[in-house]
Amino acid sequence: MTDTAPAAGSPGGALAAAGLRLHIDGAVATITLARPERRNAMTGRTWTELARIGRTLPDTVRVVVVAGDGPSFSAGIDLAMFSPAGVEGERSLHSLVGAGPEQRAAFDAVIAEFQAGFTWLRRPDIVSVAAVRGHAIGAGFQLALACDLRVVAEDAAFCMKEAAFGLVPDLTGTKPLVDLVGLPRALELCLTARTVSAAEARELRLAEVVVPGAELDAAVSDLTAALLAVPADTASAVKALLSQAQGNTLEQQAGAERAAQIDRFNALAGAAVEGGPG
Ligand code: CAA
Repeated sequence: MTDTAPAAGSPGGALAAAGLRLHIDGAVATITLARPERRNAMTGRTWTELARIGRTLPDTVRVVVVAGDGPSFSAGIDLAMFSPAGVEGERSLHSLVGAGPEQRAAFDAVIAEFQAGFTWLRRPDIVSVAAVRGHAIGAGFQLALACDLRVVAEDAAFCMKEAAFGLVPDLTGTKPLVDLVGLPRALELCLTARTVSAAEARELRLAEVVVPGAELDAAVSDLTAALLAVPADTASAVKALLSQAQGNTLEQQAGAERAAQIDRFNALAGAAVEGGPG
C-alpha cells in the first residue's frame, strides 16, 4: 500500500500543491480532489499533475478511482484563472491571449498539456471510475466524463457551464458527452448550462449507478472488486475492442473482434503450455 506524503519538493508535495491526493493499494489507485474548502476547484497545475500521475502510474494498477473530498466532486476551473493575474505560481491565461500564429501555438500547447490530465483515464490498461457526490461543474463535469464509468450519489449535480462564460468545454468532455447523450441533448446541456440531477444523469446514461450518498464509497468498492475479478489482459483487450466500436464499421469491428480473439486464444494457449501438464 502506498500513501504519498505531502513533503515539500517531493511528488507528494507536488500533489498537495495541485490540490490532489493519490493513494495506491495494489491494483487500485484512488485520486482525490482535495481542496474541499474551494469545492475542489482545479487549476492548470491540477491538470498537469493529473497527467503526471497517469505517466507514472505503476503498471500493477488496473482501476483508477477519481473522487472529491467534501460536499462537491468539483466546482470546475478555479475562477482565479480567469483574472488577469491568474493563479499564483501559474502562467496567466490572459498572457496567452493573441491572434498571431505563435501566440495561438503557445496557447494550444498549454491547453494540450491540460487535456493530457484527462485523456489518460481512457487508456486500455486501466478502468477509470468517477465517484461523484454533489456538484460536478464545468471542468469537474469534464473530469467525470473523462472516466470510463461514473458512480454517482443521489445529490450529484452536473453542469456544463463553460458557455455561460463565453467559452467552450475544452478539457476533452465534448466527445464523451456527445457519445453518451447524443448531439441534440449535448447541445442543449452545453448551451443552457443547466444542472442535471443524478436521476436525470442515469436516464441520460451519464451515470452507471446512482446510490444514496452514504453508500457511494461502498458502491465504488463493489464495482472495483467486480472489475478486478476479470484477468488484467482480458480486461484490456475487451476495453480496447469496445473503445473502437463507435468509430468502426460493422465489418471493421468484426475484424477487430477476430484479431483480438486470436490474440486471446494464443495468450491462453501460451499460458497453458507454460503452466505445463498438470
Ligand atoms: N473557483 C474558485 N473558488 C471557488 C469555486 C471555483 N470554481 N467554487 C467555489 N469556490 C469557493 C467559493 O468562492 C467559496 O470560497 P469562500 O469560502 O472564500 O467564500 C468556497 O469555495 C465555498 O463555495 P460556496 O460557499 O459557494 O459553496 P456551496 O457549497 O454553497 O456552492 C458551488 C458550491 C455550487 C460549486 C458554488 O461554489 C459555485 O457555483 N461555484 C462556481 C462554479 C463555477 O462557475 N465554476 C466554473 C465552471 S466553468 C469550467 O470549469 C471550465 C472552463 O473552462 C470555463
